[in-house]
Parts: sequence; C-alpha cells; structure tokens
Amino acid sequence: MGNFPSLDRFVPSLPDMALFSRKQKTAVGLDIGSGLIKVAVMDHRGAEPELVRVAMVPLLPDAIVEGEVMDAAVVSEAIRRALEAAGVTPTRVAAAVGGRDVIVKQIAVDRMKASQAREVMRWEAEQHVPFDMDSVALDFQILDPAGTEEQMQVLLVAAKHELIASKRRVLAEAGLTPALIDVDSFALYNAFERSHPEAMSGVVALLHIGHELTHLTLVEDGLPVLTRDLGVGTRRFREDLQRDHGLAAREARALLEASERSAELDAVLASRAEELAVGIERGVAYRASAATSLASLGTIYVSGGGARIPGLLESVAARLRRPVVLASPLAYLALRDGAFEGLDTEAVAPLFMLAVGLALRAPR
Ligand SMILES: Nc1ncnc2c1ncn2[C@@H]1O[C@H](COP(=O)(O)OP(=O)(O)OP(=O)(O)O)[C@@H](O)[C@H]1O
Ligand SMILES: [Mg+2]
Repeated sequence: MGNFPSLDRFVPSLPDMALFSRKQKTAVGLDIGSGLIKVAVMDHRGAEPELVRVAMVPLLPDAIVEGEVMDAAVVSEAIRRALEAAGVTPTRVAAAVGGRDVIVKQIAVDRMKASQAREVMRWEAEQHVPFDMDSVALDFQILDPAGTEEQMQVLLVAAKHELIASKRRVLAEAGLTPALIDVDSFALYNAFERSHPEAMSGVVALLHIGHELTHLTLVEDGLPVLTRDLGVGTRRFREDLQRDHGLAAREARALLEASERSAELDAVLASRAEELAVGIERGVAYRASAATSLASLGTIYVSGGGARIPGLLESVAARLRRPVVLASPLAYLALRDGAFEGLDTEAVAPLFMLAVGLALRAPR
C-alpha cells in the first residue's frame, strides 16, 4: 500500500528551509527507546536507499518511564552520543510518536478530491477521535485514490499537540529539530513491509518487543488493520529474573542477551510468553472479521530487543501453535560496508526496525 502519511505537515517549514532540504540526501532515523537510543542513517541518493550506519546507546534506568521523559538532560546526552557513534552531526532527524495520545482509524467517506477532503476531514475526525479537536494535529491519506466506488477508504491520524510538542522539546534539548514526526506503528510497518514481502498475504502478526512495551500490529493481506501496545517488555523479564532467582540487574540482563537458554530464564519464560500470546489473541478477537480469526492467523514476526530473549520465540510458538520467526529490517536493504561496525549485525538487526523505518522516508 506504499507509505503511510506522516505527521510532517505539522512541522512548520520556512521557505528557506525548503531550499536547503532539497540538498538533504541523507535521512537520520532516531528511535528514542526507554532502554536504548537507536540511530539509523540512510542514503537516499541512489535509486534504492542504502543503510549507511547504525548506532545504539543504552539509556540510564528510569530516564524514560511510560513513554515520558523524566530526565531530559540524560536523554539528550544519550541522543548526542548515539549520533556521534553513528558518525553524523544532523540538525534534523526523523522521530516517532505513539501510544495512547495517537489515534489511527480507517474510515469510509464519500469519494472526493484530496483538496476537498482536507476541509471535510476535520469534521469527520470529530466523529471518530475521542479528543478535543483543538488539542490534536490531524493528517490523513486516501488509501484508494484511484478507486471508483462511491465511498473511499481514508486513514485518519490524530496526535495530541502536547505529545508532538514534548517530542520537539526532547529533540531541541539535543540541538535537533524534527525533519518529520512519524507515527511509530507506521514507521515499524514501513520497515516490515519492505523487508518481509512474504508476509504481505494472509493474516500475520508483528510483535515489536521493546524494553517497556510491546507493539502489536495485525496485518491482513498487506494492510495493517490493528495496532496496540502490550505492557510487556524486556524490563519485565529482567525483574522476574531478579525477583525469582535473586539475580543482580546486570546478571539478569546478561541472561536475556545471551545466545543460549538458561534454566533461570526458562522458568520465567512461560508466564510472559502467555501474556504476549493472550495479547495477540485479544487483538485478533477484537478485529474478528470474515478474514481474520484465530484460525486464519499465520506467522508471527518478532522484532525489538525482546526478540533476542533465548527461548521466547519457541515459547510463544508452542503456546499459539503458530510459526514464530525473527523479523529483521535488513532484508532487501542495501547495506554499506561497516554499517554495523562494533555491533553483532545479526544479533542487533531486529532492534533497528523502528529507526530504519524512520530513516526510510526520503527527506524532502
Ligand atoms: N546487544 C544488546 N545490547 C543491549 N540491549 C539488548 C541487546 N540485545 C537485546 N537487548 C535488550 O533489548 C532491550 C531494548 O530493546 P529495544 O531497543 O527494542 O527497546 P526500547 O526501544 O529501548 O524500549 P521501548 O520501545 O519499550 O521504549 C534492552 O533492554 C535489552 O534487554
Ligand atoms: Mg522501542
């Protein structure tokens, strides 16, 4: 279906900035995670984008809690270090917003021109978005612009101004302005669509397991039909290990990032795998339609730092009785030599799904 809309219309661009932006051929995707800050640098000069460099820098615990920046100085310092590690000194980066304050809805409206739709969409949004219209930035994309049906499908996006403003403040603290602000689920999906074309038919689930949150996306014949956040992440696994086995945080982390399973980890896997499986089942049940039911659910693709937890994919697969595989943003993506210098490419690639998705949008 091509790219989703981004919220970049809400990034005011001065006329002279537009002049400069024409020369910008490199996009920098910045994923400000609660566990790791990740950067992906993409060269857009060629016919196909090329991943030039990635970097990741761990964040001190509790600098970001439930998506909220608690310590702006710590976060901006980590952002600066991540950019430095990636060998870039950008002033503009692509960043993402997500969570409860972003609403994405597919709606059907009478077919009209895009210019006309722009006027109508505010009124339409009032019927579909449970926020005060004055408090949100709106964007939309007509999904079937060439269609001939009386009604057209429109993807409506509303994000709270305050959410975008706070993202801008975090960037400003690090001396940055947004080249664009994307919705996290769109950026994740754009990277996934590119790297896993085999997942574009049938019903599949995309599970992006982060430090605090897991982002679930259900995809029906290549269309993302549902996204939601599950409150499980690698932090929970670590806390389980510390509590149940008396491990120090550092020891627990080592088990989570190990290449082999361990008895301690196996003991906590089942209950967390259950939580993830129930999250997927509930998502599918919510969506339940002619096309989507538990019976029709195919492969589950897993990315994010949690995808690396030894034994987790097998546990979810055993529980759901579905194939569960690792997703990586690198398939079908040109990779410059040394892009993952200092990192174990295969091990960390799934962590860069969002950063790569952000950097895939060509700069204007
Ligand atoms: N090589 C690695 N280095 C550091 N952490 C790793 C590594 N491999 C796996 N991890 C795990 O990945 C976690 C971070 O995953 P990820 O970067 O996807 O989360 P995040 O984006 O920071 O979190 P969230 O999206 O929930 O805010 C770490 O907390 C750690 O447990
Ligand atoms: Mg994340």
